[in-house]
Amino acid sequence: MAYDAQSLRFYGAPHAAFLFVTGDGGPRLAADVGAYMQTLLLAMAAYGVASCPQGLLSFYADTVRAELTTTGRLLLGISFGYSDEAAPANRITTERAPLEEITTFHD
Ligand SMILES: Cc1cc2nc3c(=O)[nH]c(=O)nc-3n(C[C@H](O)[C@H](O)[C@H](O)COP(=O)(O)O)c2cc1C
Repeated sequence: MAYDAQSLRFYGAPHAAFLFVTGDGGPRLAADVGAYMQTLLLAMAAYGVASCPQGLLSFYADTVRAELTTTGRLLLGISFGYSDEAAPANRITTERAPLEEITTFHD
């Protein structure tokens, strides 16, 4: 619960971007947005800006839409700003799944 509380305060980040989609593009649209998001995250990193994509924020889509007076489906929010290395949340590191776990090679 403490983790979610911090998450809903954008982990103290000064900015948040929200990715909305319109229309009914289905899986293809999801793929496009995923690529867009990853490019955005990498661009931020290239400029020394830390970011945290947060699917949790999409559960508050009505609140976000009302605040921003916008429409569309909210896929996720991205909190971003310069990293506070002293913040406990920034000491959490996640491991990467090994290649063989996420990939099947076919001859
Ligand atoms: C699509 C997506 C949604 C995510 N949603 C959340 C979220 O709601 N809350 C959260 O704390 N982390 C969320 N994460 C995880 C963090 O954004 C981050 O990816 C994770 O802490 C790993 O960080 P690292 O890539 O620097 O190791 C999400 C990640 C992705 C890719």
